[in-house]
Amino acid sequence: NAVVPFYGKHQAGIATEVQNHIYFAAFDVTAEGRNELIQLFKEWTKAAAAMTEGKSVGDPANNKYLPPDDTGEVAGLNASNLTITFGVGPTLFTKNNKDRFGLQKKQPDELKELPKFPLDSLEEQWTGGDLCIQACSDDLQVAFHAVRNLARIARGKAVLRWAQAGFQRTKQASPKKETPRNLFGFKDGTVNPNVKNSAEMNQYVWVQPGDGPDWLVNGTYLVVRRIQMFIEVWDRTTLKEQENTFGRYRDSGAYLGQKNEFDPPDFEKKDENGEYYIPMTAHVRVAHGDGKQKILRRSYSYADGIDAKTGTFDAGLLFISFQRSISKQFIPIQKRLSQMDELNEYIVHRGSAVFACLPGVKKGGYIGETLF
Ligand code: HEM
Repeated sequence: NAVVPFYGKHQAGIATEVQNHIYFAAFDVTAEGRNELIQLFKEWTKAAAAMTEGKSVGDPANNKYLPPDDTGEVAGLNASNLTITFGVGPTLFTKNNKDRFGLQKKQPDELKELPKFPLDSLEEQWTGGDLCIQACSDDLQVAFHAVRNLARIARGKAVLRWAQAGFQRTKQASPKKETPRNLFGFKDGTVNPNVKNSAEMNQYVWVQPGDGPDWLVNGTYLVVRRIQMFIEVWDRTTLKEQENTFGRYRDSGAYLGQKNEFDPPDFEKKDENGEYYIPMTAHVRVAHGDGKQKILRRSYSYADGIDAKTGTFDAGLLFISFQRSISKQFIPIQKRLSQMDELNEYIVHRGSAVFACLPGVKKGGYIGETLF
């Protein structure tokens, strides 16, 4: 009944087929000392394992004269493929030069704040975090419930720093499970490592022995960027310009000059005027580069009411990518994009954070135990 196993070699929610909804949250740890932090991870593990099986947190029949253990809004609902993925941010290891939890020596070289990219317009309220929880489910109420209950369990040990809900077309609306479209109307997620191919996942996504600290082997690095999309501006742009911006046809999703969505690109192909089909500044050409840096993109759209400053929609992409190395994969791609991607006319990066997603846990263990 739509249950994704919580325990395993890797955490769920990474190689898992993308669910309909996400609720993503970053936390700051307020726990005093290492033991409280370990306690938090243990309690989170227990609750996450129960919720992903569609069970309630704690004792469903606890004392009437106390607040219920579980907040109750998913009573009667199934897990809807809920996955809960935990990550640790650079500031868990060192914050203001302080080693709060005796973890400084364990900080991976890869896990540091991203460099500032040209055109970044980051806002504190969408940035950073000591810990993250990515809850994905085919039901938004189920995903929200998961984060809400984990935040509640964390009381006194961690506080919410920022959170963002996201969506994509549902599987009900697309029974053939075609590639979802982003809010610019283009298929998004076509080029990705094959999550069912473990050799490819080991090459591009899962941290391998020898890569860095052993505690992260079988984990991965997560980059999240809250990217606002100027949909009103886009909607006044011609279809031709839109397609040139991405380097793909809107309807079929094929690369310009090709026929079908999954046909490989030909970046040298020219049209009858001698112009490249895929312009030099097209998003896919710049992102592709020499094709060696592959990341696993697992993004969702968001729509959060109105941007009061401009009276336009505050809508865009909660970009999430998983990679074995941030410095060798995400950073070079984003450096190129920030310099010459035509898409920059229509987007702005408002939020950013990086996390190391812990390896999976065995039954009886707890998330993060390799760290301590
Ligand atoms: C490809 C949209 C930001 C990396 C694509 C495609 C679309 C798209 C429509 C083509 C279809 C596909 O292969 O999925 C967007 C939008 C963005 C955004 C709307 C921002 C709002 C980013 C960022 C990165 C990135 C920040 C990484 C730094 C890639 C890569 C590809 C791609 C690696 C595949 C390129 C290829 O080999 O063809 N994106 N993207 N994108 N994007 Fe983005």
